[in-house]
Amino acid sequence: MRTADLFDTSLADALRGSGLTVLPRFALSFEQGLLEEVGRVAREAPFRHMMTPGGQPMSVAMTNCGTAGWVTDRSGYRYEPLDPQSARPWPTMPHAFASLAGQAAARAGFGTFEPDACLINCYVPGARMSLHQDRDERDFGEPIVSVSLGLTATFLWGGARRADRPLRIPLSHGDVVVWGGPGRLMFHGVAPLPDGWHERLGRRRINLTLRRAL
Ligand code: SIN
Ligand code: FE2
Repeated sequence: MRTADLFDTSLADALRGSGLTVLPRFALSFEQGLLEEVGRVAREAPFRHMMTPGGQPMSVAMTNCGTAGWVTDRSGYRYEPLDPQSARPWPTMPHAFASLAGQAAARAGFGTFEPDACLINCYVPGARMSLHQDRDERDFGEPIVSVSLGLTATFLWGGARRADRPLRIPLSHGDVVVWGGPGRLMFHGVAPLPDGWHERLGRRRINLTLRRAL
């Protein structure tokens, strides 16, 4: 596979019309608030390795905030209003998350976007997310806003079929991607995280995936 970066005009060409918009460093001005809120959410609803329906623990540790949280276990993928680990509602959606998501969606050309769910993914070196579609939400007319913090990862942006060869897009601290419209159901994932050290987050990458689930 080809390695490309955001300033590569062929990558920009390939992305045009694909339904994915990359907003480099868009979240940087929100950094402090985002990191504080991730800490608050994780104290209330700790990161955990959920089980795939096939019975394997995911390499990415996850938690959620908002009125619904994305979960997976032996019975499948779905949104749940309660954290199955505590049987309590997920922590509330921080204003900073919703505000950033709304601004990013608008910048990417989508109308009003008011997320009700935020999946928080924590990657350590070696953790990965295989190609998948986000399809557990009620309305595919709503976009997805995804915020990267910490170590740089390679985002895989595929096509309508799992076998379509993905573009490789490096996402660094503060980068935001938005997908929707013709790109809403595209396969995507994250390549195994390389080792490294980030000045704010250490040996980790945090991803916020903001969605309108219900
Ligand atoms: C996801 O698809 O849920 C995660 C994407 C990412 O970590 O960048
Ligand atoms: Fe996803």
